[in-house]
Amino acid sequence: VKKLLLIGIGAGHPDHVTIQAIKALNQVDVFFVMDKGPDARDLTAARRQICERYIEGSAYRFVEIPDPRRDRVSPAYREAVDDWRRQRTDLYEQLIDDQLGTDGCGGFLLWGDPSLYDGTIQIVEDILARGNSDFDYEVIPGITSVQALTAQHRITLNRVGRPVQITTGRLLAEGFPAEADDVVVMLDNGHGLQTMVGPDLDIYWGAYLGTPDELLVAGPLEEVAGEIEQLRQEAKTRKGWIMDTYLLRRRPRH
Ligand SMILES: C[S@@+](CC[C@H](N)C(=O)[O-])C[C@H]1O[C@@H](n2cnc3c(N)ncnc32)[C@H](O)[C@@H]1O
Repeated sequence: VKKLLLIGIGAGHPDHVTIQAIKALNQVDVFFVMDKGPDARDLTAARRQICERYIEGSAYRFVEIPDPRRDRVSPAYREAVDDWRRQRTDLYEQLIDDQLGTDGCGGFLLWGDPSLYDGTIQIVEDILARGNSDFDYEVIPGITSVQALTAQHRITLNRVGRPVQITTGRLLAEGFPAEADDVVVMLDNGHGLQTMVGPDLDIYWGAYLGTPDELLVAGPLEEVAGEIEQLRQEAKTRKGWIMDTYLLRRRPRH
């Protein structure tokens, strides 16, 4: 039967790729890559470099597909995301059908780890639930951007015996989670952080983690928020895109 491998490739540093991922890369006949436009070309190039570096031989190919555009202006966020996901599901189903032979192996190179803010596992499950395709699939874990962030700042993710919350910039903009003291924020277009400047938070911020463009800032949020905003703007102008992650840590109350 056909097989799909959903391979976590780490957050940007080629050395994040695990030995399990390298073994998986070497089984793949066809890599499916979504082309998300010019801002993500660097990420596609990084994926190709990983393949060139770790795959022995050249008996594999890349299929690049334009990613369905998500309606980013629609006020109905949930519906827009559902619609976009349905289009992606159709597309992936067709690719598996068209591009893989009876015993072919398809691969998705997923940034960080496939379990964290990545829709591919759900899409693959949706395809299987439709019942038109027959294939097995495996998930290969990867180093997340959260782990890359904490390692570069040399901090622990949680404080002793305490929980951690992972959220998005969109949700953070609605307020700092009431019950949480340590919050990791991903997928922030800058707006979430701008709403946060308050007196009792420390921030550990990282952009382009694991890559030569990596940027790191840490300190009391009220002191470093301006610097982070400026670095974000400059980097976005220079490169055309930015990926950043940060940990907000409430200072202990006395
Ligand atoms: C769609 S999510 C994918 C997360 C990924 N699955 C992971 O495990 O890290 C994209 C978000 O991950 C974060 N991210 C991914 N790679 C990053 C990197 N190299 N540096 C900083 N943030 C990164 C950013 O918050 C970005 O908005």
